[in-house]
Amino acid sequence: MKLLVTGGAGFIGSNFIRYVLTTYKEWTVVNLDKLTYAGNLENLVDVAQGASADRYRFIRGDIADRALVEEIFSTGFDAVINFAAESHVDRSIDNAHVFIQTNVLGTQVLLDSALRHKVQRFVQISTDEVYGSLGPEGYFTETTPLAPNSPYSASKAGADLLVRAYYETFRLPTIITRCSNNYGPYQFPEKLIPLFITNALHDQPLPLYGDGLNVRDWIYVEDHCAAIALILERGRPGEVYNIGGNSEKTNIEITRAILHRLGKPESLIRYVTDRPGHDRRYAIDSSKLQRELGWAPRYDFATGIDRTIRWYLENTAWWQRIKTGEYLDFYNRWYGNRI
Ligand code: NAD
Ligand code: TYD
Repeated sequence: MKLLVTGGAGFIGSNFIRYVLTTYKEWTVVNLDKLTYAGNLENLVDVAQGASADRYRFIRGDIADRALVEEIFSTGFDAVINFAAESHVDRSIDNAHVFIQTNVLGTQVLLDSALRHKVQRFVQISTDEVYGSLGPEGYFTETTPLAPNSPYSASKAGADLLVRAYYETFRLPTIITRCSNNYGPYQFPEKLIPLFITNALHDQPLPLYGDGLNVRDWIYVEDHCAAIALILERGRPGEVYNIGGNSEKTNIEITRAILHRLGKPESLIRYVTDRPGHDRRYAIDSSKLQRELGWAPRYDFATGIDRTIRWYLENTAWWQRIKTGEYLDFYNRWYGNRI
């Protein structure tokens, strides 16, 4: 199978490319990535230089660049997996413009080219955040109404609706996946888990929003990648599949788990002003995927967080370069007077 993976230099995309090139020896991957602040070719050095190098090609470019995308599609693909996105809620509160540009317009450009070139699978990597926020009970299912609360989740929901429309109107064989919060190697240290691991390693404060009792469902990134590959092979066009880790945790539980494992004191925790529009709880019912395709997560949280912490301990140069670069400007502006 010949795949076009967009956003493959980011966290989940790079893990996915490594996973498929290792698992499926006949598959080839073209990775189209703009290399925004979150895209990093260091994430794929082993792939680009390793045993599967001849089945992998990188192209730097924007998914919203219609001429470039059309030129790339003319080389022929069996499937597209669209990871490319602006992905951080806090940045979408800071400035939503690029979220619409990439997440909505970029997706529409890909859909048009996929249709023109009769691509047989278009997998849109979406998020459980499009469903909005839950109270203490219940789960998101694939039929839960979309009710996004942040500019990020609104842009992802907009893309989902376009993907749905291209199936209903043109019968482009699309599939949407909606996954919960990922963690694992190569996650940009602006997200909760890698931010808190790397801050704690430097004995810097951990800025916990609000009362620290917001709940997320956490999935180890490799489990997400395995689910996407299975859906790509055997999922039904026109369908939505939820993907979850069966691992609900409050943010304070996550924080304590990290501090405890690193042998750092809880005095590093700083309760800071809450994120505006902060969704209280996400919890996902992925029984459709388990029932139809026999998928289940392999990593429980204790195993996944141990592996993740070990990776950040063994790859300090990777995240130290990021934390001293352009990201520092955003960090100082965003958290500045709060910690
Ligand atoms: P990320 O921010 O780590 O990576 C995004 C990648 O997309 C980067 O490599 C970036 O350079 C690239 N990109 C951004 N704009 C682009 C453009 N216009 N053209 C081409 N490339 C562009 O994000 P991630 O955490 O790996 O998330 C990947 C996808 O998974 C996103 O669509 C996100 O909405 C979705 N998702 C993420 C999570 C999570 O917990 N991280 C959970 C569910 C769904
Ligand atoms: P995040 O990793 O940004 O993912 P998302 O908002 O997409 O779920 O945040 C996960 C949770 O951690 C969320 O409830 C917000 C909280 N959080 C903090 O308390 N402090 C922080 O500095 C960050 C980045 C997140």
